[in-house]
Amino acid sequence: MKNILLVILFFSVLVLTACGGGAAPAAVDTIPPEFAGKTNPLGADAAEAGAVIFKNNCAACHGEQGHGDGPAGLALDPKPKDLPSLAATVGEDYLFWRVSVGKLGTSMVGWKGILTDDQIWQVVTFIGTLK
Ligand code: HEC
Repeated sequence: MKNILLVILFFSVLVLTACGGGAAPAAVDTIPPEFAGKTNPLGADAAEAGAVIFKNNCAACHGEQGHGDGPAGLALDPKPKDLPSLAATVGEDYLFWRVSVGKLGTSMVGWKGILTDDQIWQVVTFIGTLK
């Protein structure tokens, strides 16, 4: 009887460990290694060019100020997220990765190949100025 209890205890610990007990659940997806830690090569003035790119390519879904309220975004599931609040919780490497590659299972396509890396950094810089 005692052995059975020990075995149950052992497996409970295993299950708890496998579920990542202790490690805080990630609020956002993990950035792939080839993007993690990338730094923005452009200065703050890149936001100006980024604003134009955003208006032309992103605002229809994300809204002029990135609050996820663009006319084309209203019917989407999931809806475009509020970018200023996302930008407050993630780094520029996250944004660069997401805009480059897109987000599977959503209407967010990858912009690499449509926009150049510099243009993506410009738009990332612009997102950083949104409130
Ligand atoms: C067709 C509509 C559409 C267009 C156009 C679009 N997006 Fe998105 N975007 C989405 C949707 C939908 C999501 C997913 C939201 C979610 O999963 O919470 C998303 C997600 C994102 C995210 C990250 C969300 C996350 O949780 O990681 C960023 C950053 C982003 N978009 C930026 C842009 C930028 C910059 C552009 C323009 C270059 C753009 N988007 C164009 C619909 C769009």
